[in-house]
Amino acid sequence: MSSSQTKRPLQSLKSRALKGDIRVPGDKSISHRSLMFGGLAIGETKITGLLEGEDVLATAEAMRKLGATVNRDNDGTWHVTGVGVGALREPDSVIDMGNAGTGIRLMAGIVATHPITTFFTGDASLCKRPMGRVADPLAEFGAQFITRERGRPPMAVIGTDEAKPVTYTLPMASAQVKSAVLLAGLNTAGTTTVIEPKPSRDHTERMLRHFGVDVDVSINDDGGRTVSLIGPVEMKAADIVVPTDPSSAAFPLVAALINPESQVTIRDVCLNPLRTGLITTLIEMGGDITITNEREEAGETIGDLVVSGKNRLTGIVVPAERAPSMIDEYPVLAVAAAYAQGETRMCGLEELRVKESDRLAAVAAGLAANGIIHRIEGDDLIVTGGDVPGGGMVETHLDHRIAMSFLVLGLGANDPVAVDDANPIATSFPSFEALMRELGANLAPAGS
Ligand code: S3P
Repeated sequence: MSSSQTKRPLQSLKSRALKGDIRVPGDKSISHRSLMFGGLAIGETKITGLLEGEDVLATAEAMRKLGATVNRDNDGTWHVTGVGVGALREPDSVIDMGNAGTGIRLMAGIVATHPITTFFTGDASLCKRPMGRVADPLAEFGAQFITRERGRPPMAVIGTDEAKPVTYTLPMASAQVKSAVLLAGLNTAGTTTVIEPKPSRDHTERMLRHFGVDVDVSINDDGGRTVSLIGPVEMKAADIVVPTDPSSAAFPLVAALINPESQVTIRDVCLNPLRTGLITTLIEMGGDITITNEREEAGETIGDLVVSGKNRLTGIVVPAERAPSMIDEYPVLAVAAAYAQGETRMCGLEELRVKESDRLAAVAAGLAANGIIHRIEGDDLIVTGGDVPGGGMVETHLDHRIAMSFLVLGLGANDPVAVDDANPIATSFPSFEALMRELGANLAPAGS
């Protein structure tokens, strides 16, 4: 989304029970990777179910600028013809990654070990986010980075032709950093290794294998993982069926749970065990969620979620170890917690401070604006549930998940809940409003 676009305030009002059977768009993490890996592989990769949100479209354009051929059929199937690892072309203009942290950080890994110079920029939110977390390990391969102060984009990456393999221990749980290092390893002679103390989503590892790369994963004594690959690799085109995004399914899921009498089915959701922390948590809170039709597709587990609002949720302690498996879901979990009986403590949320917005601050401000009792203690957020007054205007700070979470909050609140700008929703879930209305959600334009 362009930061200069006019804001579009939207509000949600107390709604009847939600009913229906829906399919949310494709998974954002898998969509980004399918375009990038297709663009690095030899041959044509066919992608179905791709998320056509702004973040992913920015990645499609980035891969084109680097030499891949990327086309879309009228039926929504995408075709990517890759150039081969090592053969990316130097882009002749700046690459705009929009709002996408995953896009810019994984692309940085890819170009770092190609002998080209690439300039990246993004929207006002992306240009506030730290790139040092990828620039530091990628510099060990021999790449050079120029950023603004504190590692903020715009960012130039001067790739290296003589990459040295790296063994890197992640200082934070981050699939983006892990992936950036592994992707740099693809065009590096020797063994590239990432040690992650807390396991994060493993779509990169799974999809690289799908494209014919030998990726070794072992579990460490402390529960962490060691992931390695030997480069340079040759990637072979492989078709991808993108499952739907659990981070998008989270919004109708929580909306159904907080609205008594609701009955909603959400189809074909990616149930990768490193993405299901929210489902585990909501079930622990007493939520009535059943998983049916579980199956494997293109290296990922998928299934349908059958959800009813008949149980009132109860507050619990959500352990810090669970954070990587639900890192994008805390804003909407805070909304579920606002409706739960008692206190919900969400532990270890330090990474929320460097997302599309400072999500800890944005969630706290949104809860405050709507009369919900909460506090922050260190990196923990504690929400006391009960009656939800609503009536507030929430600042979204160009953050799609803040916008959608607070629109869910308003569906059961005494007074409408407004967000100052619904435009960012298009980065990850362009059909959000249509699908929520189809279920019975009452959404309407709001005064600014
Ligand atoms: C993502 C990893 C996570 C997540 C983001 C997508 C990915 O970020 O928040 O939305 O696709 O690898 P971190 O790696 O910063 O935790």
